[in-house]
Amino acid sequence: MDSLGLNKACAAVLVAGIAFMGATLLGDGLVSPTKLAKTAYQPALPESDKAAVPVAITPDPPVELLLASADPARGEAGVKSQGCVACHSFNQGGKAGVGPNLYGIVGAPHGHMEGYSYSAAIKAKAGPWTFDELSEWLKKPSTYAPGTKMSYAGLSDPKKRADIIDYLRTLAANPEPLPTPPAPGAAPAAPAAPAVKAL
Ligand code: HEC
Repeated sequence: MDSLGLNKACAAVLVAGIAFMGATLLGDGLVSPTKLAKTAYQPALPESDKAAVPVAITPDPPVELLLASADPARGEAGVKSQGCVACHSFNQGGKAGVGPNLYGIVGAPHGHMEGYSYSAAIKAKAGPWTFDELSEWLKKPSTYAPGTKMSYAGLSDPKKRADIIDYLRTLAANPEPLPTPPAPGAAPAAPAAPAVKAL
C-alpha cells in the first residue's frame, strides 16, 4: 500500500469513529428514559414457591395448656402407634424391657425404676419428672438428655405428646392433678405457677 492509500485508510477509520461517537451523543440527548418506580412485570408466585419462604418458628404452646384438652385414650393409642410399648411396660409392677416400666412415672424421680440400669444422662437429671420435662423428653430424648440410651427419635406434635403424658398420668393409684393452664396472655410456661412447681 502506498502512503496515499494508507492515509485514506486511516482517515476512513477516524471518520467512522467520529461518526459513531456523534451518533451516540446525539442519541443520548434525544431520548431520555424514565426509570420505573417498581418492576412492571410481577409474576405471581406458585403456591409451592410460597411454601419455601421461611416462616417464623413459633414455640410449642405450654404443655399445661395442651393437657387441658388432652385425652388419655388417645395417649394410650399413641404409646402403641409410637412404638413405646415395644420397649416399655405400663402396668403396675410390670417388668423392664429394653426400657424401664413406666407405671407412676409422672412426678416420680428421673430413673424411677429400682434395679433398672439407667444411662448416666438420665441419672444426672435431678428432681421429679414434671409435665414440662416429660414433654421436652418425648419431643427429642437426645436433646433433653444427650447420651441417653432411649433410642427413640422423638414426637414433634405437642398435642400428641400431651395425650401420651395425660395417659402416663393416669397410671398411678393417685394420679397427679392436672396443672392449672396459664392465664390467657400470661408469659408462656410460667415456671412459678404453683401447680407446676408442686411436681
Ligand atoms: C427403642 C426402645 C424405646 C422406645 C421406642 C421408647 N423408649 Fe422410653 N426408654 C427407653 C430406654 C432404654 C430408657 C432408659 C433411658 C436411659 O437410661 O437413658 C427409657 C426411658 C424412658 C423414660 C424415663 C423413665 C425413668 O424412669 O426415668 C420415659 C418417661 C420414657 N422412656 C417414655 C417413653 C415413651 C412415652 C415412649 C414412646 C413415645 C418411649 N419411651 C419410647 C427405651 C425406649
